[in-house]
Amino acid sequence: MAQQGTSDVLDPTPEADFPSDRAPAVEPDGGVTLLAWLARMREERPVWRDGSGNVHVFRHADVQQILADPATFSSDTVGRLSGGEKQSPRGTLLLLDPPLHGKMRRLVSRAFTPGLISGLEPWITELTGQLLDAAPEESFDLVDALANPLPVTVIARMLGVPTEDRDRFQGWADQLLSTDPEDPESVRRMEETAVAITVYLQGFIEARRKEPTGDLLSTLVDAELDGERLEDEDIASFATLLLLAGHITTSVLVGNALLCLDGDPKLLDRVRADLSLVPAVLEETLRLRPPFTRIERVTTTTATLAGTEIGPDTLVHLWLLSANRDERVFEDPDTFRPDRSNSRQAAFGHGIHYCIGAPLARLEGRIALEALLDRYGRIGVDPAARLSWHGTNVFGARHLPLRVQRA
Ligand code: HEM
Repeated sequence: MAQQGTSDVLDPTPEADFPSDRAPAVEPDGGVTLLAWLARMREERPVWRDGSGNVHVFRHADVQQILADPATFSSDTVGRLSGGEKQSPRGTLLLLDPPLHGKMRRLVSRAFTPGLISGLEPWITELTGQLLDAAPEESFDLVDALANPLPVTVIARMLGVPTEDRDRFQGWADQLLSTDPEDPESVRRMEETAVAITVYLQGFIEARRKEPTGDLLSTLVDAELDGERLEDEDIASFATLLLLAGHITTSVLVGNALLCLDGDPKLLDRVRADLSLVPAVLEETLRLRPPFTRIERVTTTTATLAGTEIGPDTLVHLWLLSANRDERVFEDPDTFRPDRSNSRQAAFGHGIHYCIGAPLARLEGRIALEALLDRYGRIGVDPAARLSWHGTNVFGARHLPLRVQRA
């Protein structure tokens, strides 16, 4: 076994029985191979360099250490790894470092106050009911019927654009999500999508400049950063970020909750009989099956991780999926136990970039799960279905065919 603090911890050379010099994908087995690999990496190579020279960390303590230290571990992966050639638009909150990050975050926080989010509850409940009313009686795909349209429509409404345009948003979100940064053609398509979103939003931004209506676009149009108004490009990039960060994650959360409950019919009945258990079920779902398998940082200087030195400008993958199953923090980590304390689960990140949409995601997840359990006396994943999965970064099924029976 490799020892921490020695250079071979970072050696990409696979051992004879070590499967590969890169992480296994979630496809085709839904993460079985990936999870076994992560468990082994946590134990044997907690800080590991892959075949491309990027570093991966697997333990909860190391992930937390990195997220708590934005001076050493920058979020500006795009800017730093392009050698300063590219600059992230100011709206891409996720990629900003202090002090700009704090200023932008304070600004957009105005659209995510607890009052504003909880005020959405009646509307989200109604929308959920309408989507389920439109679903076929005995079997349907949860992702197409509910898990996808729900968060896309919520984001459209927050921004203040017509919710009827959600199919267009959905198409853009799919396109952004399928981007492969190593394929120039795919990157070109992503850039085209970003332009299409900016063009679409342009008219709404101009209208809000003339007459603010209290929606998120109005807030952004009106906002000043260091005495300057945000450019249209900044506003569009924030809208794009919301589509990327707030759509697929929430969609996958709803599907993952069903997948977790599907394995335990007694628990499913217990939760249906007492819907106050739903938040705990969602929290344990987020721990066991976090929608983002990993997030990224880049070192600004030489850094030490678990006794290992890493040079500057190194891309670091932080495996949230592994941190959430770290046996050093969670007892019996591979078991779904909604009664455990989940205050340390890392699905929403940690530190200054902690997910700004977490309360909204929890609200949408709760409303969706309550509605499903309330409406259907029997609900389960279609046993005949062959599930297909998202790639490496997202942990969840692309489609989830359900069989249901009304209560
Ligand atoms: C279950 C659902 C969700 C999960 C698992 C999730 C996960 C995350 C994670 C891990 C981060 C931190 C990324 C980093 O540190 O690099 C993050 C940030 C963010 N999320 Fe979420 N997210 C979810 C839902 C949402 C929703 C519904 C929205 C908004 C509509 C949203 C908007 C954002 C934004 C704007 C950031 C950037 C915050 C910052 O950089 O300060 N997310 N999310």
